[in-house]
Amino acid sequence: MSLDQNLWKKALIESYQAIEKLTGVFLVTQGKGRKPNIMTIGWMQGGIIWGRPIISVLVRPSRFSFIHIEENPSFTICVPNEKMKREIDLCGSFSGKTIDKFKSTDFTPIYSENFSVPTIKECPIHFECNIVQKTKVVEANFIPEIIHEYYSSGDFHSVYYGEIIKVKI
Ligand SMILES: Cc1cc2nc3c(=O)[nH]c(=O)nc-3n(C[C@H](O)[C@H](O)[C@H](O)COP(=O)(O)O)c2cc1C
Repeated sequence: MSLDQNLWKKALIESYQAIEKLTGVFLVTQGKGRKPNIMTIGWMQGGIIWGRPIISVLVRPSRFSFIHIEENPSFTICVPNEKMKREIDLCGSFSGKTIDKFKSTDFTPIYSENFSVPTIKECPIHFECNIVQKTKVVEANFIPEIIHEYYSSGDFHSVYYGEIIKVKI
């Protein structure tokens, strides 16, 4: 594992703190031949699975981000700062199907060499991840309370496990 363990663990802790304090972090995806899209997510987990540092995210099929991530199995997570509450709300309530969220937020997409999804220049912490596994949560495997609370209209999440290949703080 070539990643600096202390760095990605520190970055993960910062992400959880942003989720707690600011409600979410940014998931950036970019489908084939498309412009990049930003969506606010509150459900993000990190740790070692399969001997690799992994971040998992849950995306409902109704999201524009779902099309992007299905077309191109990579994503970035960008951690906001406290001045980005408006952008967190915007990216969590408008779909990229109707607006260009890089334009609406005035965020700048930055591409690393050999990575097809940008990070957000203005965010203090970035992860770049390549998906190594995806799965779909299954209705029959839930307890009824969760179905009732989260899936009354279906739209069952897909879960994407991305290996962290780069972290910037
Ligand atoms: C705080 C917050 C957390 C959210 N977390 C998730 C999430 O983990 N997964 C998800 O599919 N949608 C989540 N959403 C909803 C999406 O951000 C929202 O539907 C967004 O408009 C989808 O954008 P898109 O259609 O451009 O992908 C969240 C929204 C907010 C405000």
